Amino acid sequence: MQLNHNISLQKYNTFGIEAFAENFAIIETSDDITTLSELTRQYEQWHVLGGGSNILLTDNLNGLTIYNQLKGITIIEENDTTVLVKAFAGEKWNDLVQFCLQHNFAGVENLSLIPGSVGAAPIQNIGAYGVELKNVLETVEAYRLDEHKTEIFSNKDCNFGYRDSVFKQSFKNRIIIVAIKLRLSKIPKLVIGYGTLQQQLEKTGISKPTIQQVAEAVNIIRTSKLPDPAKIGNAGSFFKNPTISKFRLHVLSEQYADIPGFTLNEMNFKISAAWLIEQSGWKGKREGNVGCNPLQPLVIVNYGGATGKEVYDFSEKIVQSVKQKFGIELEREVNIW
Ligand code: EPU
Repeated sequence: MQLNHNISLQKYNTFGIEAFAENFAIIETSDDITTLSELTRQYEQWHVLGGGSNILLTDNLNGLTIYNQLKGITIIEENDTTVLVKAFAGEKWNDLVQFCLQHNFAGVENLSLIPGSVGAAPIQNIGAYGVELKNVLETVEAYRLDEHKTEIFSNKDCNFGYRDSVFKQSFKNRIIIVAIKLRLSKIPKLVIGYGTLQQQLEKTGISKPTIQQVAEAVNIIRTSKLPDPAKIGNAGSFFKNPTISKFRLHVLSEQYADIPGFTLNEMNFKISAAWLIEQSGWKGKREGNVGCNPLQPLVIVNYGGATGKEVYDFSEKIVQSVKQKFGIELEREVNIW
């Protein structure tokens, strides 16, 4: 295992924020986990870093920062209709999607091009265009840093919610995701009802798309709206879409007839945070090195040289504006470190 000190984290977070890790351990093999197990006893604080695509660094990281580089994607079992694929946490999520597309395994095509690592995927139950990781995830293998042992979490154990899981809550910074297993299908059941995806497929005149064509359509939508972190620092959606009651939506829609929302259950609606931010006048706004993305206002961008605190303060202004105008408190989706 490699252990380094005072390492710049700028290239390890997609926001491109400069901050330093006091102690930086890179784990690449299962032996490294055993070594790490000993090492973690020396530190009170740990942070586990995957692709760094859903964090905002507001300070240097004290204690131990663990960079997960466990690699490998394999087919574990296969029958006529389904297949079980195991992927280690240090793989890039999109490489796993590519693997599935190449083998004609259906289930993750809508999740094409999501930045970040495989290990980060269950933490926030990544989702896009009507599909969430929880729809295909069978198990998560995780190493308990506090108890120094490996544990298998079933899909149910993960307690998945909208951009949420047990790993983001009670196990926060107490585990390392080692690998995940996905149950994928050889007989595709496409999910193509999401507005923009349906429109994109119609535009290309494809009525019965393959999973590869669905992924291609998703890629076109994503690249047209979401800034490429390799060019402009960002962490995808900065906020969650808020949930409000039916009553509240009714009151709001008397004033704003076009408020976009969809039914979650009998009592609750999810409404578009992008719309709330746009209505509050933030879409495309820039202050210094930080801005609200002009095409998808849910994304906050670092135009270069911003500090984590600047990004955070900017996000707080958006939170306050939306609260003042709509009485709704936006919740950050990105993890603040
Ligand atoms: N909208 C606006 N103004 C805009 C953009 C969008 O009012 O400038 C409204 C429109 O009504 C639009 C609606 O927002 O129909 C939804 O927009 P979009 O389809 O872009 O989805 P989203 O709800 O804003 C979520 C995820 C994205 C994911 C897309 C597609 C969250 C926090 N974000 O965004 O995920 O790609 O759906 O499924 O749930 C991420 O998590 O990092 C992420 C990018």
